[in-house]
Order: sequence, then C-alpha cells, then structure tokens
Amino acid sequence: MAELREVQITEEKPLLPGQTPEVAKTHSVETPYGSVTFTVYGTPKPKRPAILTYHDVGLNYKSCFQPLFQFADMQEIIQNFVRVHVDAPGMEEGAPVFPLGYQYPSLDQLADMIPCILQYLNFSTIIGIGVGAGAYVLSRYALTHPDTVEGLVLINIDPNAKGWMDWAAHKLTGLTSSISEMILGHLFSQEELSGNSELIQKYRNIIAHAPNLDNIELYWNSYNNRRDLNFVRGGDTTLKCPVMLVVGDQAPHEDAVECNSKLDPTQTSFLKMADSGGQPQLTQPGKLTEAFKYFLQGMGYMASSCMTRLSRSRTASLTSAASIDGNRSRSRTLSQSSESGTLSSGPPGHTMEVSC
Ligand code: BEZ
Repeated sequence: MAELREVQITEEKPLLPGQTPEVAKTHSVETPYGSVTFTVYGTPKPKRPAILTYHDVGLNYKSCFQPLFQFADMQEIIQNFVRVHVDAPGMEEGAPVFPLGYQYPSLDQLADMIPCILQYLNFSTIIGIGVGAGAYVLSRYALTHPDTVEGLVLINIDPNAKGWMDWAAHKLTGLTSSISEMILGHLFSQEELSGNSELIQKYRNIIAHAPNLDNIELYWNSYNNRRDLNFVRGGDTTLKCPVMLVVGDQAPHEDAVECNSKLDPTQTSFLKMADSGGQPQLTQPGKLTEAFKYFLQGMGYMASSCMTRLSRSRTASLTSAASIDGNRSRSRTLSQSSESGTLSSGPPGHTMEVSC
C-alpha cells in the first residue's frame, strides 16, 4: 500500500494557535435500515437548530467537512450551534467491510434514518449542509419532514435520477476506470484531476487506498440508483425552507443546478463559487463561511451585533446594485468573482455587493 503523505490542503485560514476544536462524541444508533454513526460537536443551544451535515460519496464527515468547520472564521458561527456530522453507513473511520450480499440502503432509506438520529439526541430542528449524495439525502429528508428543517445548504446537488444516456456513459467509463477513479470524477472536474494538485493527490490517495472501498462502492451504487427528487415549484414536492444552492465553478454537476429553477425563488439563493473546483467546502472554506453567515442572518440567526469587527464591517459595506442574472431575477443570487473579489447577495430582484 502506498504511504500517505502529509500534504497541505487549500485552507486560507486554519484554526489559530490556541484555538482547539471542540470535543467530539461519536454515537451509533440502530434504525430499520441498519446502524448509523454520527459525531456531535458542541452542546445544544436553547432555541437553536442543530447543524447537521451529510457528506458525499468517497468521503466521510471529516474528509468532507473538516476544512470548512475548522476554518478560523467559521468558529464564531458554529460556536452558536451544536453540530451533528452523519457518516453514511460503512463510511465511518474503522468501519468493517459489509458482508458480501449486504443490501446497502437506498438514498431514500438513508434519509429515513435521520429521524432516529434526531430522536436519539432529542433535537427537534436542523439546518442541513449536504454535499453531492449528502445534499440529495438531506433534500429527501426535508421533503418528508419539512417541519424539522429550518434551512438547507446544498452543495453540488443533482436532483435527477440518471437517464439512460447517463447510464450508458457510466457503463462505458466503468469498462476502463476503477471505482475510485469514477468517484474522483464525480467529486472533481477533469481539469482538476489532470492538474493533480496536492489536494487531488491527497483525495486520490484516500479513496484509492480506503480500507472500506467496497462499502464506498455500495454508497456509490445507491447514489447512481437515486430517483428524481421531482421538485415542482409551487407544488407539494418542493423545499419549504430557505435553501442556499452552492456549486463550484468547475463542478461536474453544474447542470444539476437547474434545481434553482424548481425551488421557491423567495426562499432560494444560488451561489456559483469562483475558483473553487468541484468541492468548494474544501477549496474555498473562507468564501463558503461568509456565504453561510449571510444565509444564517437571513434566517434571523447571527445578528451582526454578535460578530467580530471584521465581519461587521463586511456586512456594513453591503450596497444595492443591479440584478446580475436576468433568468433568475426572481430568486436570490449570490455570486462570487475572483477578479473583483466580490460576494453578492440580496433579496429577490436585486443583488447586494460586498468586498471580501
Ligand atoms: C466541527 O467543529 O463541527 C467539526 C470539527 C472537525 C471536523 C468536522 C466538524
């Protein structure tokens, strides 16, 4: 087995010296679809939802979310919330390989495991953050339990089942590529993969040498067998809570953010993140932290008075500007440009700009 090398990942501002992550406690609960493991950071805060995360295929909660949750500016946000990081079955560190013939839960069944977690913890509402398959699972959960979801951050969501063309392409790729290469192709763009940065080398190594690669393949199969979420704007099958859709500018799933057009425009923000490749939470934790802060403020959490001077000055510099996306002029658009270094956000019909 190749040795794991220590590599630096793209973090603009990791935890400061002396700033230690909170103690984590890992639990497992039995559900009708098997056991699920999750890790809780922080303590429950009265009248506040828990932040609940769900990771993508090929990752676990740490490899998917650690760079974001350990980012220095994120600390002032997350200290106000208890966090529950779910590992899809068989993805937790040290997970044994499932026996041959094990029936891995479908994504819908993974969503149906979430109430068991919340009941065990006695938590009534959540703000979900999901990436890829995890974004799908949280959306499905929100559709079936709308009263328990206060908000959703959905990174690289693909709400559609694979069509027959996708299946044909998938089968063809499967003839020449290993499972780990296919999953890397799901997580990162071809440009990123051929660039082979330290981040890519790190994740290639993690996935290709994962002791639970057989389990990962089962989660991958469930993802590929997902059914349509069938969002219908204004219909019963739509998300009722505020949603922040995030997509990396190089994300392989860009098309899937047609999702934006199917959700309630008054409740949905769309953030296309510059210079972030396929995994914005790994490569741009700073920008995502800032967008998440505005999202929480929009929901009435994180008043600017409880933020640091730097954060307050950023918020105070919000100014109105013209809408930047005619097609989506009725929805909120958050966009970031690397050249201008701007983050734009705002209510339906116009865009607010803030330098960052
Ligand atoms: C958290 O503080 O929630 C966290 C810390 C490390 C990894 C993931 C999450």
